[in-house]
Amino acid sequence: MKKVILLSGSPNKVGNTVQIMQECEKVIKNQGLETEIISLAGKSIHSCVGCRKCKEIKRCTIDDGLNEILEKVKEAEGFIIGAPVHFGTARGDLMNTIQRIGMVSYGTDRFLSWKVGGPIAVGRRGGLSTAYNEMLMFYFINEMIVPGSTYWNIVFGKEPGEALKDTEGLNTVKRFSENVAKLITKIHN
Ligand SMILES: Cc1cc2nc3c(=O)[nH]c(=O)nc-3n(C[C@H](O)[C@H](O)[C@H](O)COP(=O)(O)O)c2cc1C
Repeated sequence: MKKVILLSGSPNKVGNTVQIMQECEKVIKNQGLETEIISLAGKSIHSCVGCRKCKEIKRCTIDDGLNEILEKVKEAEGFIIGAPVHFGTARGDLMNTIQRIGMVSYGTDRFLSWKVGGPIAVGRRGGLSTAYNEMLMFYFINEMIVPGSTYWNIVFGKEPGEALKDTEGLNTVKRFSENVAKLITKIHN
């Protein structure tokens, strides 16, 4: 069965980002695909040190849980990432995670190519579009395919649970998730 990994970059186990990912997961499951939510809550993912050893050993040298996430992404056809906005940008640990996955893919067989997905930014008020654009850079340099929606994937909310009340944001990311699933079904035989 085709699979989509949904990575929540929030430090909160039951915060807005995870809750939004759960809504996206339901939509993807309804389209007949398998899903798995991975949360960075409780994890501490280091930034890339640029050693380039991944070229030889086909994984990352830093042993902090990144390789386990990477293996799951490698096996899936879809990869959606969600980040809370911190000081106008996507949370650092989420960027650390995708930059290291990108580096291993880049240095090896470019396993990210043709995976379908995209970013979702969650925040209280400012910097959501910046964070969204920032995360998009990862997708396009890695030859990934990002479907659109009826708006950009930004959802507003501060306290846990508030993001689910942003009806327009929620509908946007649900439509996006449906498009991810449909596209995977069409292009991955
Ligand atoms: C350190 C920190 C910085 C933040 N900076 C911003 C910001 O620049 N813009 C914004 O709209 N929200 C900002 N927020 C609010 C969070 O993005 C918002 O509460 C979000 O819903 C948290 O998602 P989570 O519950 O998944 O962690 C910040 C929160 C924290 C903890």
